[in-house]
This record gives sequence, structure tokens and C-alpha cells, in this order.
Amino acid sequence: MKILHASAEYFPYTKMGGLADMLASLTKEQAKTEDVYVALPLIGKLGKEPIWTGKEYKALLPEDAKEETMAVSLLTKARFREADESGVKLYFFDSELFRNLESIYGTGEEHYRFAIFSYACYALSQILQVDAFHAHDWHTALSLSLQKNSSHSIPSVFTIHNLAYQGDHPFWMTGFLKEDPFRLVTSPFDHNEKCNYMKAGILSAGQITTVSPGYREETLVEPNGFGLSYVLNKRKANYTGILNGIDPDEWSPKSDKRIFQTYTLETWKEGKRKNKEGLYREIGRPSLPLETPLIGLIGRLTYQKGFPTFLQAFLERRHLPHRYVVLGSGDIETEKVFFHLSETIPDVFYFYRGYNESLAHKIEAASDFFLMPSLFEPCGLNQMYSHVYGTIPIVSRVGGLRDTVEESLELKCKTGIVFEPNDASSLGYALERAKDLFVSPERDHVVENMMNLDWTWNKRKLEYDRIYMKSIERLQ
Ligand code: ADP
Ligand code: GLC
Repeated sequence: MKILHASAEYFPYTKMGGLADMLASLTKEQAKTEDVYVALPLIGKLGKEPIWTGKEYKALLPEDAKEETMAVSLLTKARFREADESGVKLYFFDSELFRNLESIYGTGEEHYRFAIFSYACYALSQILQVDAFHAHDWHTALSLSLQKNSSHSIPSVFTIHNLAYQGDHPFWMTGFLKEDPFRLVTSPFDHNEKCNYMKAGILSAGQITTVSPGYREETLVEPNGFGLSYVLNKRKANYTGILNGIDPDEWSPKSDKRIFQTYTLETWKEGKRKNKEGLYREIGRPSLPLETPLIGLIGRLTYQKGFPTFLQAFLERRHLPHRYVVLGSGDIETEKVFFHLSETIPDVFYFYRGYNESLAHKIEAASDFFLMPSLFEPCGLNQMYSHVYGTIPIVSRVGGLRDTVEESLELKCKTGIVFEPNDASSLGYALERAKDLFVSPERDHVVENMMNLDWTWNKRKLEYDRIYMKSIERLQ
């Protein structure tokens, strides 16, 4: 089968969060048995220099696109440049709209930039004559409307990675969708008096998936549908939750080149000790004690990730022996508080502001616990990375976190600490449980359970194959 994915993010080229990791790991696995292509934007600052093959494609435009609209002119000048990555063919969309960007998001005009990109992805699917077209999140959702309206429409799948971001814009900004080359009827986009790309994607795709069964259930009910649960309910029969997988070549303590000491299930205690020592040295805190629990936190500092709950619980439980290492950036107020704690109580708290892939691996390997107090979490990858690294996740009971972490009374099933409701007092109690677990013989069993889990795409990739087949059957 020939599959084309369309996405704004792809690891390591344009990573901002889990979407990049998810797609790179999924496509690498798919490429073992299928022909897999990925369209992504070529920005000025890529995480890695692509291995170009020299092949290029111009975007296809309707034959009768006479009007010299801005969109037609931009697409005429743009092209897809082919590159190789672990058996996957990458198609970098090279356009003046993206070429000078330092980062894929956050710079105005996104509604326009991603509309042009989505058109180009749709056109590429026609050029490559793929069997299935798979778009990810709102950035590429528009390509599904183009697909649906096309006389040569290709079976399509839309994966929702995060409903909190919908690409909704005032109508005065999106009038161009009615013109060449889009020619779209925009009524499926109407939502709360705005033009909503995510909504159109949900209504247009052959099949819709999201990244865990738990999140699927949650999004069918407000407030977790972020206003779109009624649309998802309309498409419920074609809406599936498939848990994400991880790439063991990137995330494994046995082979990780970024950590201070590799380790296995047999050597995890010594391995973690060496990594903790190394991390404390690297962050300039070599005298921090090795025998007290270290809790790692990594993530975008946004509302979703629940950092204010953590801060409150942390302040209320200052008597606990835990040390904290936090890596992330985002909300300025949260950053300020973390900097303040890092400066005033350096023997307890360390904060690194920014994005640092290598430090993220070191934190996973060194930490005893990994905290994810998310208010909602479509899947979450760090709890799975934590399992593999023998780092006990402490998670709120939401979305993909509740599908992957179990605080079972049956020791053989316990794979972490889970708290509910999501407030400072239940998180505080979870931190107390972590203190007890750290010195209990139970910890060895929990680590063994976790390190034996298989979170690879190995079997789960088949669930996507089934979705492609359903989408193909639907079009026949
Ligand atoms: P989300 O996609 O919502 O951000 P996920 O848990 O799915 O959440 O994935 C986040 C990914 O991004 C993980 O691989 C995590 O390690 C990484 N990450 C997040 N923030 C940073 C950061 N500041 N530095 C390095 N990696 C980060
Ligand atoms: C999103 C979600 C996260 C998920 C990731 C990859 O960014 O916030 O929970 O793991 O996408 O699917």
C-alpha cells in the first residue's frame, strides 16, 4: 500500500512536541512493509539536514486555474523536494511562506500558510497516486476537504492529536478558500462564527482517529471536545482511538547515546545512579544527594500540562525529600515562578528554560519518578518513555495517561502512580506515595513491570492498517 502522511511536525526536522515523535516512529514502522511518504514544510531552521535525493515535484494546479490569485502564484513558485529518512520518503514543501521561519508555529498568517501547504499536500497525493492519504491535526485538515470534493478523491484518514488547537479564524481572513485553487464551499468550516479547519477535517475525512481510546471517549463529551464534541458524535461510527507507540531506537536506556550510562532491567539501579550523578554535575548541582527521590518534569508550559497544580502541591508538601528537575518553556508567568524557585532553593529545584532534546533524555534516565499532572492528555509520550527507562510515572487520570499507567493494588500490574481528581491535594498525596514507594521493596517489582512493557508500534501499527482499509472500503 502507498500511504502519504501530511503533517506540520516530523522528528527530528520540525519537532515542537509529541506529534513529531509519533509520526516519525509510526512511519518508520510502516515503511518496513509499505511505501510511506510524508509531506512536511521546509522551514529555515530544521532539526537536521535532510538527505536529498534530488527529485522534485511541482504542486498540481487545476488546469483551468486562470485567475492569478496570490495562492496560485505562491503554489506556482513552490515545489516538493524529496529526501530519504529510514526508508520513508520525505517531501519537504519548499515555499517562500515557510523558508525563512525559525520555528514551525507561532508566527502570524498561520491560517494562510497552512492552507497553502494543505493544498500542496492534496496535490501531491494526486501526483503520487497513493492508496491512502493521512492528515494530522488542523494544519493539514483542509487537504481533507479538498480530497472530499475532488473527482479523484483518495481514501483519507484524519488523526486528531490535540483538540485544543483547531485552527479557527475569523471569516474575513479566510475568504481566499472560495477562490482558486481551493474552490471550497466553506459551510462545513462554520463554527462559533469562525472558520474552523479542524471541524472541516472531521467532517471531510473518510475515517477519523485520535491518539488513545481514553481521549476518544473524553472528546465525545464537553468540555473535552473543546466545542466540537457534537461534530465528533456525528462521525462516531468512523472515529477510533489508537494508542501511540514509541521508537525504541530513539528511546531505550540500553542504547541511548545521549545519557551518561546505558542500562538494562538487570542494571537499572547502578545505571540510574550514574545518570543522576551525571545530570547533577551537568546542571551545576553536584552536591545534590543521590539517595533522595528525583522527580523529572518535561513539557510545553501550557494550560494543558497542569503546572499550576504541581506548583501548589509542591509548596504544600515542602516537607517531602524530593528533588525536582524541570525542562520546558511557554507560559511566561510559570517560567518566572520556576526561575524563582531554581534561584531561591537550588538544593531542591532546578529549571532549564528552553527546548533541549539531549537534556530530555538525561532527565528520563536520571529521574526516579516522572510527573505529568496534565488537565487533559490526548496520549502523552513521556509516561511511556519513563516506563522504558524504569522511571515511575506519576500521572493524572486523563486521556492516554489513564490508558497506559496503572496504579493497581495487584503488584504485578502496577506501572505507576495515578491521581484523581486533578487537584493539588490528590497530587500531594501522590507525591507522598512516591516517597514511600521509593524505599519499598515494591519498587523493584514496579520497575520490572514497566521495563517489560512493549510500547513499540510493532502490533499497534496494524490498527492503522485496519483504518486505511475501512477508508478504502468506504470509497468503493
Ligand atoms: P505534547 O505533544 O502535548 O507536547 P507529548 O508527551 O506527546 O506531549 O510529547 C512531548 C514530546 O516533546 C516529548 O518527546 C518530550 O520529551 C518533548 N519535549 C517537550 N518539551 C521539551 C523541551 N523543552 N525540551 C525537549 N523535549 C521536550
Ligand atoms: C499532542 C498531544 C499529546 C500526544 C501528541 C502525539 O501534542 O498533546 O498528548 O501524545 O500529540 O500524538
